Amino acid sequence: MKKRLFLSATMLAVAALSSVSAIAQTNTFKIGLILPMTGQQATTGRQIEAAARLYMAQNGDNVAGKKIELIVKDDTSVPDVTRRLAQELIVNDKVNVLAGFGITPSAFATAPLATQSKTPMVVMAAATSSITQASPYIVRTSFTLAQAAVAMGDWAPKNGIKKVVTLVSDYGPGIDAEKYFKERLTFNGGQVAESLRVPLRNPDFAPFLQKVRDLKPDALFVFVPSGAGAAVMKQFLERGMDKAGIKLIGTGDVTDDDQLNDMGDGALGVVTSHHYSAAHPSALNKKFVEAFGKANKGLRPNFMAVGGYDGMRVIYEALKITKGKGGGEALLAAMKGQIFESPRGPMFIDAQTRDVVQNIYLRKVERKGGQLYNVEFDVIKDVKDPGKEK
Ligand code: PHB
Repeated sequence: MKKRLFLSATMLAVAALSSVSAIAQTNTFKIGLILPMTGQQATTGRQIEAAARLYMAQNGDNVAGKKIELIVKDDTSVPDVTRRLAQELIVNDKVNVLAGFGITPSAFATAPLATQSKTPMVVMAAATSSITQASPYIVRTSFTLAQAAVAMGDWAPKNGIKKVVTLVSDYGPGIDAEKYFKERLTFNGGQVAESLRVPLRNPDFAPFLQKVRDLKPDALFVFVPSGAGAAVMKQFLERGMDKAGIKLIGTGDVTDDDQLNDMGDGALGVVTSHHYSAAHPSALNKKFVEAFGKANKGLRPNFMAVGGYDGMRVIYEALKITKGKGGGEALLAAMKGQIFESPRGPMFIDAQTRDVVQNIYLRKVERKGGQLYNVEFDVIKDVKDPGKEK
């Protein structure tokens, strides 16, 4: 009798516990944020995590009756690690959304898992055009290199830059930048004298820059991923390329706001095309930059931060629209077509492509209030990813 009583009491306790955890389960909404927090892309992880936490601090962690839980994992920007972490987040943590993805290979490694598990995957950083085609569950809040590079291919030849050498990191986004810049430059009467590609990991720019010097182009067009820009700038100046009359141009990754202020006066005058500058003159951006700095010991947000901040917005809104009741399919549907003002300017998630449509700005490095900024001087409005048109 005693034993039976004990057993049923235990069973009751177990049943009670599991129903508590079932409630906890259904009342939490988990976001698995996979980022490079260490290694070569660590600045990307630091920026996006800080932006995601800022968004949560400003908007609360209670949405549509759910408690938002952010689970941050460091993939060290190794795609096999990204895939393993995504698998664990889906199977063990039962996350509702996957997010982050600092580099293109990490996004590609995870895409099949998003499809199999029907988990929306919000790409906040990686920027190769074809990523969104790797899974119907991918939504992107960063940008594409094709979007940014085309604007530079239009601007350069109209501003006396005809002969250009391109130098890109040898992987997805670099290949896109090279292709779309060259196509547009050539269309506008310019010419690419040589296309150079450097390895993604531990690149040594010196031999490539020597080659550029010998070719004497009007400009060197550069794409390197966020975090590598300062090294390019340093070697470009050390080799006196600017004094030899060669201009530095590129997508805004090279004059990344995370590093720009430490690049020195040599960076002054560098023109780039991109979707975000910390100096974007809107009231919303001023508030964003100020709050981000305040929460992070004066750190300036870069374009990675804004991708993370807007990615959180897209997730929060999807949860509101579905009233906290939808699964992966419903959330995905509610992410498509979102339109809102971002710190970068107006932003739209194209329902067809699940990719971001946004303004691309031409910017020049200037000193403002003692600090170096990418100051916007022209805008191409509502640019769709040109990489989707073919
Ligand atoms: C990418 O790997 O897709 C990537 C990373 C950093 C950037 C741009 C693209 O700045």
